[in-house]
Amino acid sequence: MTSLFNNPMVALAVGIGAAAALLAIWLGANSSDTIGLISFLARLAHVGAAMLWVGMIWFVNFIQIIALQETDDVGRAVLMRSIVPRVARVFRGASHVVLASGGVLLLTTGYVLDRWVFPSAVYIPTARGIILWLGVIAGIGMWWLVNRMILPSLTSVLDPKTSDGERELARYRMKAAARVNLALSVPTTFAMVAAAHLY
Ligand code: HEM
Repeated sequence: MTSLFNNPMVALAVGIGAAAALLAIWLGANSSDTIGLISFLARLAHVGAAMLWVGMIWFVNFIQIIALQETDDVGRAVLMRSIVPRVARVFRGASHVVLASGGVLLLTTGYVLDRWVFPSAVYIPTARGIILWLGVIAGIGMWWLVNRMILPSLTSVLDPKTSDGERELARYRMKAAARVNLALSVPTTFAMVAAAHLY
C-alpha cells in the first residue's frame, strides 16, 4: 500500500491491472475476434496517448508558458530545468504512440488496404473518409510540429552555447508551434470522433 502512494508507476500498474482483468473477463465470455481485439487495443492506446498529448498541449499553453512569463529568473531556471524537459519527453512519447496506433487503426478499421486485412472490401461512406483523412493530416502536422519544431527549439533554448538572439528565436518558435497545436487539437479530435460516431 505504501508503494502505491509513494510510486506513481505502482499506481499506474494497479490501474492497468484492473483494466486487464476486465478485458480478460470480457474475452472469457465472448468468442474470439483477432482483428477486433487488435483494433480495440490500438484504439485504447490511441485514445489514451491522445488524452495525454492533448492534455500536455493544454498544460503548456494555459499553465507552463504563463508560469514561465510570470516568474523571475531564478524560478524560470528551475522550471526550465525540472518541468519543461519532463513535459517535453511525455508529449514526444505520446505523439509517437498516437501516430503508430493511428497507423494500426487505419488498417484495422478498413481505411487503407482493407482487402489485405479483411476477407472483402470495407465500405466507408465518403463523408466519413474525408473527415477522417483531414484529421489524420492535421494529426501528422501536430506530430511534425512537436518533433521537428518544438523539441529541436527546446534543445537550443537549453543549450548554454546558444546565443541570446538564437534563444529568443527558438522560444518564439516553440510558443508559436504550441499555439498552432492547441488550435489543431480541437478539430483533430473532432474529426477522429466524428469519423467513428457522427451519424
Ligand atoms: C493529436 C492527434 C490525434 C488525436 C487527438 C486523435 C484522437 C482520436 C480519438 C479520440 C479517436 C477515437 C474515436 C472513437 O472511437 O471515438 C481516434 C480514432 C482514430 N484515429 Fe486518431 N487521433 C490523432 C491522430 C491520428 C493520426 C495521426 C492517425 C493516423 C495515422 C489517426 C488515425 C485514427 C483512426 C484510423 C481512428 C479510427 C477512426 C474510426 O474508427 O472510424 N489519428 N483518434
